Amino acid sequence: MAETQEKQPKNVSRRRLMQWLLGMSAAGTAGAMLSSAGTIQSMQRQSKSEEPVTAGDRLVFALGPNKGQAIRHDSILIHEAIYVFPENKDSNHDNLIFLVRLDPKTLQPPTIIEWTAEGFVAYSANCTHLGCTVNFSHEAMEGVPYPHLHCPCHGGIFDPHRSALVVAGPPPRPLPQLPIKINEQGELIAAGWFKEPPGPIPESELQQWRQKNKS
Ligand code: FES
Repeated sequence: MAETQEKQPKNVSRRRLMQWLLGMSAAGTAGAMLSSAGTIQSMQRQSKSEEPVTAGDRLVFALGPNKGQAIRHDSILIHEAIYVFPENKDSNHDNLIFLVRLDPKTLQPPTIIEWTAEGFVAYSANCTHLGCTVNFSHEAMEGVPYPHLHCPCHGGIFDPHRSALVVAGPPPRPLPQLPIKINEQGELIAAGWFKEPPGPIPESELQQWRQKNKS
């Protein structure tokens, strides 16, 4: 966990905040669920915690009238998506998560299926290119005939059915998947940390990542 925390910024920089706001301003279909909440005030960090998401954390709405409330297994329908934070850990922007609900039959490798629950799959919402906040789009595009995750900053597109692999644009690696579960109360909880560090990583680490993932 110590290594994990080293990778987490201690404070949200002005640049990261602007990236977040830029992403939010361009949020597309997901905005239908989020539009009432995209204010600067809602982006301000209320919590004192800078801790990373960890196993057992309840996932809560990041925005909107339900902000701070637990996500239940029936909170969203198939082909809907929402921004969530681990409860009381919204001061760490690296904890921002995109929770997508898909038809479980459409989830494919390299998605880690054991890290999904009833079609819910969770990814970091921080683009791996320069850290803008990604959004969700139902719109089919040329070569992308399915709902997808889209980064408004430079057009990065990720496939949520396949471990958020990059299908277009400059992001150098997928959005890291977060393991999730549904607890006995029917609430979505984290089952660990991200598969890899969220957001942009230093070039030296990126080279190591490329080496490791060379096919
Ligand atoms: S920051 Fe996402 S594509 Fe550039």
